[in-house]
Amino acid sequence: MAIVLKQVVPWGRSADEYCHMFALSEADLSRRILGAGDGPASFNAELTAKSFNVVSFDPIYDFTAQEIAQRVEETYEDMVRQMWEDRDGFVWKRFANPDDSGKARLKAMEIFLADFECGKQQGRYITGSLPTLPFDDGQFDLALCSHLLFLYSQHLSTDFHLQSVQELCRVGKEVRIFPLLDLTRNKSEHVEPVCAHMTELGYKVDIQIVDYEFQRGGNQMMKITKIEV
Ligand SMILES: C[S@@+](CC[C@H](N)C(=O)[O-])C[C@H]1O[C@@H](n2cnc3c(N)ncnc32)[C@H](O)[C@@H]1O
Repeated sequence: MAIVLKQVVPWGRSADEYCHMFALSEADLSRRILGAGDGPASFNAELTAKSFNVVSFDPIYDFTAQEIAQRVEETYEDMVRQMWEDRDGFVWKRFANPDDSGKARLKAMEIFLADFECGKQQGRYITGSLPTLPFDDGQFDLALCSHLLFLYSQHLSTDFHLQSVQELCRVGKEVRIFPLLDLTRNKSEHVEPVCAHMTELGYKVDIQIVDYEFQRGGNQMMKITKIEV
């Protein structure tokens, strides 16, 4: 059994989870960071509060705070119910059980929502959708993508993945993507095509084990950097 979702859902994680998923060091946190598909994650809000520099990009930023809250709350019951039904598919270490994990997502959303209007005015929450990014070449030191690419492999095509990853590499000097599993907890069918495509374009692609595993077996992160000649 696995979680079944009709579409990509807004479900947000905390800065601590981002730090573990992406193996972010103190030096990484001081870089100019883009979070693509950050949705209602509290990463931007929490890092901004510590004077770091993060821009988040997501189609849901077109909605009001109230509309986003409603969408997350609608997602909540279904996600928590499906996690209970599939609880052996997850590692219950960071969270005690599906209710606890659901509460953490709502908490992340609350922190995000409290920051959203101000962050939008400051240009930290930008509306749009991959595979196109409205940013300059090399505008970010680090571009992160959590729980969108690879996870939603059944919803997003190989072509979408290739274009999106190439675009992330255009705007970010380094790109990190987590997880590499899809919703059925199998390695995404798009991982190998992305590795081959980016290697062909002159990038170094590394797959790194990280200190974060929630989906059982999902503890790998892809890191892509340009090979300097
Ligand atoms: C499961 S949530 C993950 C949120 C956050 N990255 C995290 O890990 O906590 C997936 C997010 O991807 C966003 N999304 C869906 N399609 C997208 C696209 N084409 N480009 C950018 N973001 C997209 C959704 O709106 C949603 O907020």
